[in-house]
Amino acid sequence: MEINKAQFITSSSKLSECPKEGIPEIAFIGRSNVGKSSLINLLTGVKGLAKTSQTPGKTQLINHFLINDSFYIVDLPGYGYARVGKGQRSGFKKMIEDYIHQREEMVNLFVLVDIRHKPMKIDVDFINEMGETGVPFSIVFTKADKLSKSAAKMSLMAYQEELLKSWEELPPLFVTSSESGEGREQLLEYIEQIL
Ligand code: GTP
Ligand code: MG
Repeated sequence: MEINKAQFITSSSKLSECPKEGIPEIAFIGRSNVGKSSLINLLTGVKGLAKTSQTPGKTQLINHFLINDSFYIVDLPGYGYARVGKGQRSGFKKMIEDYIHQREEMVNLFVLVDIRHKPMKIDVDFINEMGETGVPFSIVFTKADKLSKSAAKMSLMAYQEELLKSWEELPPLFVTSSESGEGREQLLEYIEQIL
């Protein structure tokens, strides 16, 4: 699939504020700073479309981007961001959970994990919860440019092993880099297929 049009439409602080046209959407979630917004910019080919930052906690709202006038890409706030107050953190959590579990337009959730880390409890728990609650999701490894090919492969295998402790079958997995563009074609092809 080619993306030839990508427009920011709106930011919502809760599910009820999200667009209501019933257009299908693809959402991106993962720990703060994992590279959600950067990946959206890579996919759309528009640098700066989704705001990125070296400091975790940049995206704080549900952001809808209309792609090719036909579907939405949705940038979500990260989970596990420690440096916001308790009240704000539970607000984020509710916003994200309401969206993930109740947004009928969401056809797939991409769960991003940093390829450099060993499977982290917060990510594994989140992935397991998605599986248990029947959310349609896929796993996207980010920042592949930061590891050698062989180290990336090891990391991928460690993750698969961890998830196979709980699951017989794994969701689709993708390896990406917003720096090098690795994985862009595969992800776009997959999005086209699921839409
Ligand atoms: P929040 O909105 O805070 O939840 O973060 P996010 O997941 O949207 O992360 P964001 O895209 O803002 O990226 C966080 C930092 O990681 C930025 O400094 C990016 O430049 C960097 N980054 C993101 N993706 C990659 C990648 O593939 N490779 C490298 N080397 N850096 C990346
Ligand atoms: Mg972001």
